[in-house]
Amino acid sequence: MSLDADVAVRFIAKASFLWHQRFALAPGVMKPGANDIEWLVDRSGLPQDLTGKSVLDVGTTNGGAAFICEARGASRVVVSDIASPERFGFAALSDTGRLQREFVHGSIYELPELLGGETFDIVLFWGVLYHLRHPLLGLDSLRRLARDLVYVETAVSDATLPELDGVAVVRCTSTPWAAGTRRTFSCRTAEPSWLG
Ligand SMILES: C[S@@+](CC[C@H](N)C(=O)[O-])C[C@H]1O[C@@H](n2cnc3c(N)ncnc32)[C@H](O)[C@@H]1O
Repeated sequence: MSLDADVAVRFIAKASFLWHQRFALAPGVMKPGANDIEWLVDRSGLPQDLTGKSVLDVGTTNGGAAFICEARGASRVVVSDIASPERFGFAALSDTGRLQREFVHGSIYELPELLGGETFDIVLFWGVLYHLRHPLLGLDSLRRLARDLVYVETAVSDATLPELDGVAVVRCTSTPWAAGTRRTFSCRTAEPSWLG
């Protein structure tokens, strides 16, 4: 669902929560966050057509990736974050009718239980891995949540490195959290190399 541009401009002007992601809240009206989520979605290779797919976006912040997945035809989109839905304005965005996905409040470690064993065709795990105290435990949870494709994006180095086989991405931004080299990749749960 698209907001009117003037409603979106007023919403942004009044909002006091943290804008992490940048994406179009209405045609021509970009949210003011530093993380260009539309660029990341395209760079990750996420299919344009997600018709009929179920998607879980872990660490959703402002919900930008979830919105894009829904716009690409996903039939079920669930978002989660360790932060409350108020912290990044998810609740306020839902009130506008712009974001209507189900929000699950919890850490990656507890998500399989919180979601009652549900699995998803696509799981997005962008910008979360490097936050974790127990990254391997986080990946175990991810495996339990995924039934086909997992998309991961993570910091891999504090220094800026060149492209590696076209998959390493360098964030050209002045924000300290994004400086250095970040990498996107995807894997299928059926691949033998996927966590044994
Ligand atoms: C750098 S932001 C990335 C946001 C978004 N995925 C993106 O790429 O724009 C990290 C997000 O992960 C969440 N997060 C941190 N630790 C987490 C955990 N243990 N489980 C789930 N989410 C977590 C944070 O609250 C935050 O929303």
